[in-house]
Amino acid sequence: MTERVDPVTLVIFGGAGDLAHRKLLPALYNLRIDGLLPSSIAIVGVGRRPASDQAYRDFARGGAARFSRRPVDDAAWQGFAESLFFVPGSLEDPATFASLGARLDLVEHERGLPGNRIYYLAIPPSLFVTTATQLARARFVQPHQISPFARVIVEKPIGRDLESARRINDGLARVFHEDQTFRIDHYLGKETVQNILVLRFANSIFEPLLNRRYVDHVQITVAEAEGVGTRAGYYEQAGALRDMVQNHLLQLLTVTAMEPPFSLGAEVIRDEKQEILRALRPLAGEAVDRHVVRGQYDGYAKEPGVDPASRVETYVALEVGIENWRWSGVPFFLRTGKHLARRASEISIQLKPLPPILFNARSEAPLAPNVLSVRIQPNEGFSFSISSKRPGPSVRISTVKMDFSYEDAFGAGTPEAYERLLLDVMTGDQTLFMRRDGVEAAWDFVTPILARWAERPAPPIPAYAPGSWGPADADRLIGTTGRSWRAP
Ligand code: BG6
Repeated sequence: MTERVDPVTLVIFGGAGDLAHRKLLPALYNLRIDGLLPSSIAIVGVGRRPASDQAYRDFARGGAARFSRRPVDDAAWQGFAESLFFVPGSLEDPATFASLGARLDLVEHERGLPGNRIYYLAIPPSLFVTTATQLARARFVQPHQISPFARVIVEKPIGRDLESARRINDGLARVFHEDQTFRIDHYLGKETVQNILVLRFANSIFEPLLNRRYVDHVQITVAEAEGVGTRAGYYEQAGALRDMVQNHLLQLLTVTAMEPPFSLGAEVIRDEKQEILRALRPLAGEAVDRHVVRGQYDGYAKEPGVDPASRVETYVALEVGIENWRWSGVPFFLRTGKHLARRASEISIQLKPLPPILFNARSEAPLAPNVLSVRIQPNEGFSFSISSKRPGPSVRISTVKMDFSYEDAFGAGTPEAYERLLLDVMTGDQTLFMRRDGVEAAWDFVTPILARWAERPAPPIPAYAPGSWGPADADRLIGTTGRSWRAP
């Protein structure tokens, strides 16, 4: 069910950058093939590199050829490429906005576009506020503008702690109202993540179980096989806690733990998620030492662009508590890292152990508890593990799995997160975007952990072997509670 998309102009600042090349332009191309873009659209890249429209179209085609989920089809490409334009210039230079304005007027006039505009800030966060301010100064955006609409998209990282996040949000809010502001956490655009709400609230079997009466604990793993690659410049300023936990992992946690919303309205859903962030048991001071583990893969300090004495963490594991009626006393174990054994993101909800009677009476061989596992990627789907009798005269019990695979059920070709997210900005649906209070609540949780680490830099960061599941400390973190990590 897709809403009608009004004709629009999408301006991508950083239009010749990596995000545009790998994600945005291929996503837009796929939306075009699926017939989801408005009949009339202009996509205008803005960037430092001087380039003509034709050079930009070639750049876009190169990105689509490498990163699109579908091969590039000549005829389809031709139609799409005609909507691509490029304006060279530096964002620090007001003249760029003058030439951009003139170009947009012309393109919109030629293509019969009404002036609805989306400004995608695919640029370093240090430029968010200056760019938004320039947009206001150059009168691209009027105060309280409703029609034609003006919307802005920003990507994480929004700040590096609570204070800097607030500064960015304040700066954006001086130009764009909250309902014009779309903060992307691309995990929310993943089909599997959206399906968590369907799994929970469109099935009568699971929801009654998901609370402190039946759940022993929850594990959320986002494991990457790749190292830092070419992104050391950014990563050295971030680390795994800022890069992954503050956003993606906490978002997965909120979707897993939130109360049923009373409607599917964007604000209603975001309110419920916010309740979870506000209910997180704070981790500060010594609690950080007990409940948060960091690690760095062997060889990270020798990666190109990394400080040889770097103390940046490439792995984090933490035990989180949610202090509300539903989840009180149920630990949530979160972990993420680069260069781990394999790429695997999964949420597993382990139910309580059985009482030690009947089939579970043999204390030396307890039955495995039931586990509901949501595979976010790869091999998207979910499974529910249950105990079953093996055929034969004696009672021998094995764990079997009920398994759902997206590919088996619905075929290959699941849309990319950015396709869904770009479409939602065009229709103005903010459900899958981070609201200001959500970003700040997540920083509020994470900032005291960063503060504790900054205060106690002395112990070396535990190392782990590339290709392993992380440092031994992470096993101890969960092990001291009598539990262990599940192999995803
Ligand atoms: C990004 C992080 O937000 O997410 C990267 O900055 C990380 O460091 C990436 O690799 C993971 O995304 P995905 O969709 O590949 O799991």
